[in-house]
Amino acid sequence: MNILIIGSGGREHTLAWKIKQSSLCDELFIAPGNAGTETCGTNLPIGINDFAALQQAAIDHQIGMIVVGPEEPLVKGLLDCFTSDPSTQHIHIIGPSQQAAQLEGSKAFAKAFMKKYNLPTAAYREFSQQEYEEGVAYIRQHSLPIVLKADGLAAGKGVLICSTHEEALLGFEQMLVQSKFGEAGKKVVIEAFLEGIEMSVFVLTDGKEYLLLPEAKDYKRIGEGDTGLNTGGMGAVSPVPFFDEALRTKVMERIVKPTISGIQQEAFTYVGFVFIGLMISNGDPYIIEYNCRMGDPETEVVIPRIQNDLVELLLAAATHQLDTIQIQVQTITAVTTVAVSGGYPEAYTNGKRIEGLTLPSLNNIHVFHAGTLRKDLHVVTNGGRVLAVTAFGPSVHEAAAASRTMLGQLHFEGMNYRRDIGYEF
Ligand code: AMP
Ligand code: GLY
Repeated sequence: MNILIIGSGGREHTLAWKIKQSSLCDELFIAPGNAGTETCGTNLPIGINDFAALQQAAIDHQIGMIVVGPEEPLVKGLLDCFTSDPSTQHIHIIGPSQQAAQLEGSKAFAKAFMKKYNLPTAAYREFSQQEYEEGVAYIRQHSLPIVLKADGLAAGKGVLICSTHEEALLGFEQMLVQSKFGEAGKKVVIEAFLEGIEMSVFVLTDGKEYLLLPEAKDYKRIGEGDTGLNTGGMGAVSPVPFFDEALRTKVMERIVKPTISGIQQEAFTYVGFVFIGLMISNGDPYIIEYNCRMGDPETEVVIPRIQNDLVELLLAAATHQLDTIQIQVQTITAVTTVAVSGGYPEAYTNGKRIEGLTLPSLNNIHVFHAGTLRKDLHVVTNGGRVLAVTAFGPSVHEAAAASRTMLGQLHFEGMNYRRDIGYEF
């Protein structure tokens, strides 16, 4: 079977690396890919939201399966577009329908789903532009801190955690009245702040059956000790040391099973990944968010720990045979550290030559490419997050140290990375 991966980050390079190892994969294509994915397959210069060009490429290359990396094409209806066209409706798409992708695409939709299926999450209310005054009154009497979320996709920037009412009122006005986040902020979810420690679980589902994949914890802040601005993710660890049997049981019973049951009861078309962001508060799990795809950089630690043939798993989901599969996970710890461009997550410059990539990789360490581009004979930076270096070890500490040792051999102008991924373990 020929397979097409959509996306161009570290997540997609990891998926390409894993899928390439499958005996079920004949030719592998990545659109648009990066300098790392082209070592696993053929990059196609097509944007992730250019559905017409993606459809044509799928036909030209006789694609049997498409794995959608990022959320945006799913929220925009990629699956619906492919299944409504007779020439592409036979293709297995790993990713939910536009309707189901609202679990990520609309915070209000996701909260309503959680409420309907009694899923533990922060108490909330949603407000539209017409309900501005009600929202102001709601904020004034709300306990602090208070969390404001723009309803739609806002590239990770649509969440405000406010420690004063004044800050919350200003943020609310900017979102709802001044349209700071455009369409995404036409509705705002206001919710209670959950205290605790965050981690994420990942589920592969066909809309009814599911497999729990390895869990992970990511590090979103730019600075060591979890300080500074939020980023797409500066590193991740898997497994999560505090995710013990007791917590796993709670997460399965209170979160995963009712989520999949809700997806089934809603009759969502959902073959793909559900990424559930959790807050563990006094030992109990609460849902912070759903994503309709794998995480980045979580994929860089989750996927390498899976021993099964990934295409076999994806095909089992697509053909509703997940109940026949046992997932095999390596017990070893994986840590990934992300090297970013100087200035990121604010302004940065692309095109910096990356040195050290041709050196032999240290034992069993993966240098996954995120924002990279091949330019003549060299690989140059092409994004905020540039590389994700995944290493393994008997503990978080050792895996993280191995990842940093490898990063020490790589260089580009302005390169920055956190030296404390997994510091609390
Ligand atoms: P989201 O885009 O919903 O994942 O939110 C981004 C980040 O904001 C999360 O990863 C959390 O760190 C934080 N966050 C979101 N909602 C809450 C909440 N109710 N309580 C505490 N922190 C939150
Ligand atoms: N690392 C967080 C995400 O992929 O959304």
